[in-house]
Amino acid sequence: MATPVVLIAGDGIGVEVTAAMQAVVQAAGAEVTWIEAMAGLGAVERYGDPLPAATLDLIRRYRVALKGPCTTPVGKGFRSINVRLRKELDLYASVRPVSTLPGVNVPYDRVDLVVVRENTEGLYSGQEHVVVPGVVESLRIITRTAAERIVRYAFELARHSGRRRVTFCHKADVMPLSDGLFLTTARAVADDFPFLEFEEMHVDHLCLQLALDPSPFDVLVMENLFGDVVSDLCAGLVGGLGLVPGANFGQRYAVFEAVHGSAPDIAGKGLANPIALIRSAAMMLEHIGQRKPAQRIEEAVRRTLAAGRGLTRDLGGNGTTATLTQELIANL
Ligand code: NAI
Repeated sequence: MATPVVLIAGDGIGVEVTAAMQAVVQAAGAEVTWIEAMAGLGAVERYGDPLPAATLDLIRRYRVALKGPCTTPVGKGFRSINVRLRKELDLYASVRPVSTLPGVNVPYDRVDLVVVRENTEGLYSGQEHVVVPGVVESLRIITRTAAERIVRYAFELARHSGRRRVTFCHKADVMPLSDGLFLTTARAVADDFPFLEFEEMHVDHLCLQLALDPSPFDVLVMENLFGDVVSDLCAGLVGGLGLVPGANFGQRYAVFEAVHGSAPDIAGKGLANPIALIRSAAMMLEHIGQRKPAQRIEEAVRRTLAAGRGLTRDLGGNGTTATLTQELIANL
């Protein structure tokens, strides 16, 4: 029986990479029924809201969604769609696996790590106000509950995926109360996993080490803003935003998404690299228990990159979304 999955194509290149993803998922033999929903600019035009209640209702009903990039209208009073989606559905864990891919020209060759980012608090808790004209305050919320569940998530992920080390990243020297609470909570959770290695690292030092040699890192866990920055940095280590998949997990729901944006500079030109969304779909298929098509897709991505035919410009080729999609399907 085909599994219903909510599909949000999104804006800009979202529409192009979504069509490519659907073709590859179907060719891989996955059994999925797409339930189409809207978010982003199209939803503003139709519902007056970039994240309409109808879309949230569909995700609550079907539990699993795959989302293309959405443009949040700037200066119109709308909050980020992604931040809202994560808060509304309590998608507290952002998970971004980052590993070296064949044929991609980068200075590092043995990257294999996962960035786990707390998705609901920190500086992205959306609590900002004007204190007096010219002075604005943004609140950085850290709670023991959210700190504990994200660190526990990281340890469980390490345990279930055969990983050995969890690195907790923080700035407790500069923010002794907020990151101090996060750090002591992380240490307490680590005590429950004595068979895994636990490491503490300042986030600035982490960035330095990642740039010098990312190969020793395994699972990284951190708060929201640090995680946002570090996960893009890590995408850069293996070839960029067009390649790296992502997922957001909560207790009840899971939303999978490419980590890049709607790329207005190349939208509509057929130049977008669909691999990030296609690999996000593979993660989604694993999640719903369709491991075989998920593995076929991952292997096809590797074969296609190694062969180097039909690649889009961001990968150094002169192909298009269509040529890359054809190669991926041929390599399934
Ligand atoms: P972006 O990721 O859209 O683009 C950054 C650069 O990377 C551009 O030069 C773009 O052409 C390139 N790029 C991105 N994805 C690519 C792909 N798949 N293939 C080839 N090249 C690719 O980031 P930007 O420009 O900061 O944001 C544009 C819009 O996207 C904004 O409205 C932003 O709010 C939204 N956005 C949405 C996200 C989401 O829905 N998950 C995430 C990030 C941004």
